[in-house]
Amino acid sequence: MDKEQALFAVSEQGSALIEKLVLQELKEFEHLKVLTTLRKSNKLSAGEAAAVLEIALARQKAIKSGKFIQAAKMFFTRDALEQASGEKITAHRRKRFQTLADSLGEDAAIVDFCCGIGGDSLALCPVGQVTGIDLNEARLVLAKANAEALGLSERFEAVCANVSQVTSANLNHLHPDRNYQLAFFDPGRRDEQGKRIFKAEAYQPPLSTLKNWLSKDGPPHLKGLAVKVAPGIDYDELKQLGLDCEVEIISENGDVKEAVLWFAGLRNPEGTLSNVTRRATLLNGNTHISYDDSKGIPKLDCQKPRRYLHEPDGAIIRAGLVECLGAEIQAFKIDNEIAYLTSDSISNSPCARSFEIISSLPFSLKKIKEELQLLNARHLTVKKRGSPIVPEEFIKSLALKKGDGEDLTVILTRVKNEHTAFITRAI
Ligand SMILES: C[S@@+](CC[C@H](N)C(=O)[O-])C[C@H]1O[C@@H](n2cnc3c(N)ncnc32)[C@H](O)[C@@H]1O
Repeated sequence: MDKEQALFAVSEQGSALIEKLVLQELKEFEHLKVLTTLRKSNKLSAGEAAAVLEIALARQKAIKSGKFIQAAKMFFTRDALEQASGEKITAHRRKRFQTLADSLGEDAAIVDFCCGIGGDSLALCPVGQVTGIDLNEARLVLAKANAEALGLSERFEAVCANVSQVTSANLNHLHPDRNYQLAFFDPGRRDEQGKRIFKAEAYQPPLSTLKNWLSKDGPPHLKGLAVKVAPGIDYDELKQLGLDCEVEIISENGDVKEAVLWFAGLRNPEGTLSNVTRRATLLNGNTHISYDDSKGIPKLDCQKPRRYLHEPDGAIIRAGLVECLGAEIQAFKIDNEIAYLTSDSISNSPCARSFEIISSLPFSLKKIKEELQLLNARHLTVKKRGSPIVPEEFIKSLALKKGDGEDLTVILTRVKNEHTAFITRAI
């Protein structure tokens, strides 16, 4: 979608067409017909019709996903919607911005580097005036339209520029009266074919771009910077880049969603001198639980599997805080390299799922199948950690008949380097 097509889509005529389409079932095989009708009946160019349909489809997805409460009024493209964080997460991040802004005691000015369609910018508007910068002109048009749709036009402006070239001088030039003290950065993490980029230095722009902003020549008086990165961020790469920050891994209802790097004043949200380098935050409904390494990581013994296995929330695993949880629930590791914990009692922690072990056996398709046949499982779930097996293929090769017994979970993992299968019931 180019800028002109986006401008048409957010115009009165475009918006009305999008609203109508959103109410229809837009099956993929009918898209061509929809595009032809849009062109013929409304005299649209091919590009305008495609933009209208793309936004309508993305809006339908956004409404269904629940990422944005006001999705029905907003403008997305498919990619931009996928890249935007949900409102639960942006609200969680906003708290630190608010705390720091309050402590600075001035009306905050925030710069959102790589603002896309404005998901993060708009979430930060309650904290201060937001300037969103992006290279993609079409996305900026949608970001502006989103600000208008949510009644935030007064708090947000969209600027087309290459964020790699932002200096204090050109930000000052834009708004001599504003003191940009807070910043958010959300670099692109997909290549041109839409494939995920894993190396932070291959992000667009590369992660190290942020060093410009933290240096003396960067935007003036930057007191806090937060960066959204992939949850699989390589901690060694961060170290090699010399980035001194807290890494927060965030999960929502058990699914790991993203990692945030917190720099400078945003690193110490409560104004305390915090030594946190890793934090896991679990968002569940309206509550959140946080684990961090401020007190160090306890040493946890490896022991033979007991009656229960516990699977920590993915955020805890990715943040490298399994031992902290293990110490809290008085569980042991089953192997130094594996994130399952074990103990004689179930975990009441919302941060781990417990499974009661029915039997454990060295990995053998034949033996596992025999055991499962005896148990006559009604439904089988397969989980794995440290095992090369693909669960879907494994279930197929078991070729079990559906029984009338209980629902079972097979956990494929390694114990002291032995491939092991645990047949369990989820608690
Ligand atoms: C992950 S998306 C940002 C999503 C955004 N935070 C949101 O909530 O919608 C990354 C954005 O970076 C922009 N981008 C990539 N390289 C850039 C650069 N050098 N300067 C400015 N924007 C850039 C892309 O156009 C894209 O919109």
